[in-house]
Amino acid sequence: MINTVESLNNSYLPRLSEFIAKRIGLNFPEERWRDLIRGVQAASCEFGFPDVEKCMEWLLSAPLTKQMIEVLASHLTVGESYFFRDAKLFEAFEEHVLHPLIDARQRRGRFLRIWSAGCASGEEAYSIAILLKKVIHDLQDWQSTIMATDINPHFLRKARHGIYSEWSFRGTPVWIREKYFTRTSNGRWEVLPDIKKMVDFAHHNLAEDPYPLPVNNSNAMDIIVCRNVLMYFTPEMATSIVRNFYNCLDNDGWLIVSPYEAPVTLSSEFKAVRLPNAILYRKGIPEVLQFENRHGANARDTAKSPSRSKIEKPLYRHRKAAPVSPLTRKDNREAPSPAETALKADCAEIADLARHYANMGMLPEALEHCNRAISQDKLDPSLHYLLASILQEQGKVEEAVKSLKRVLYLDHNFVLAHFSLGNLADIQGRRKDANKHFKNASDILNKAGKETILPGSGGLTAGRLAEIIASMREEEQHEQG
Ligand SMILES: C[S@@+](CC[C@H](N)C(=O)[O-])C[C@H]1O[C@@H](n2cnc3c(N)ncnc32)[C@H](O)[C@@H]1O
Repeated sequence: MINTVESLNNSYLPRLSEFIAKRIGLNFPEERWRDLIRGVQAASCEFGFPDVEKCMEWLLSAPLTKQMIEVLASHLTVGESYFFRDAKLFEAFEEHVLHPLIDARQRRGRFLRIWSAGCASGEEAYSIAILLKKVIHDLQDWQSTIMATDINPHFLRKARHGIYSEWSFRGTPVWIREKYFTRTSNGRWEVLPDIKKMVDFAHHNLAEDPYPLPVNNSNAMDIIVCRNVLMYFTPEMATSIVRNFYNCLDNDGWLIVSPYEAPVTLSSEFKAVRLPNAILYRKGIPEVLQFENRHGANARDTAKSPSRSKIEKPLYRHRKAAPVSPLTRKDNREAPSPAETALKADCAEIADLARHYANMGMLPEALEHCNRAISQDKLDPSLHYLLASILQEQGKVEEAVKSLKRVLYLDHNFVLAHFSLGNLADIQGRRKDANKHFKNASDILNKAGKETILPGSGGLTAGRLAEIIASMREEEQHEQG
């Protein structure tokens, strides 16, 4: 039976639209209630409810899991996308963002970190990968990260598959399809493996999942592309997402949204950079902008701390990344004396600075401050955890493992240390060890309340980390066929 706005219990729709705005971010004001009913009707079949009203009642009363949110999102989101959508914007992006950034990084550590947020079925992320391949001739010597995230698992599955119909190429120059795709036997187009492996796809709910957070690799970004996503959100949610993006970006980082989404960005801390065919947004504007000269790096890039030049690509993929933020503090010691308290405050400040540097990707500075903090308080596991995370980001795996073991020696329940050891073992192909560490982490998480915010983790809950571990294991099983 098709339900209508009129036939449904009046109290459900306002509550449901409020609830969806909060959990997914999507805006369903009264004039869009028909779309909302259509979406929930489709979802209710998947949830096993023949009656949409019963399903709504259940949704409003049950604590929703990540899987339930995914089902709902998969029926309520719009996945419209195509390769090189908005050609003018891509030109501006190439000319005014990529070229200066690449020129600066050529001389100062070849790395780039880009996030396509709300990537739908991957066309946008692969377009960025193609662009990088086109403009960086020695790409094999670069450490480039293109992270692409979405809330809709069906879109992500298609994105990872990388096979598209002609429709995804509307408005795309034919040579791009010819050069970077192969024709499949049934007349579709598959992204070349070289391009495919440049992009990491992951599930991420912009409305709920915490960011910036090293655990999901959403920190220290150079560029965030989030087009045609915010326009579906409530204004409050869009504003809060833009604020989070601001914190995810490196000092001179760029945010790229679609023209319809300009209002929310304009009212944020971002500076609008007006170019002939596009408006882009930047976190901090360098004193001298050299947009005319694409071979001259901008002043801020050139003047940047030398430390970034030595940055190493994190060894792990985003879904296996370990958070920089430490989880727990050891509270079982005797009350400190006033002198100790002063020293501790000092130590906490130094540790905060170390964390700040780590989040900005300034790893040598982070390391130096972290070591200073540890020299003041050798028994604080959270400091050793911070050290391990920095070492891990620097690619110093063995040293990171030693620090993580020290963390567990000091506090066996430090769940993020178990999680990180699992990630490292996994990367090194030691599946059995990895599973052992993940199991230890899960056992500890199972004892904690789902909503417990893991202390010092930047907002990650015990339930969410448990879900991350479960979905990693699922993916692993899927890969093993
Ligand atoms: C219209 S598509 C945009 C695709 C691409 N960015 C483009 O411009 O071509 C909007 C995407 O936002 C995603 N989305 C909606 N709500 C989201 C949320 N809360 N978190 C992450 N992604 C979300 C949808 O699943 C959908 O794939």
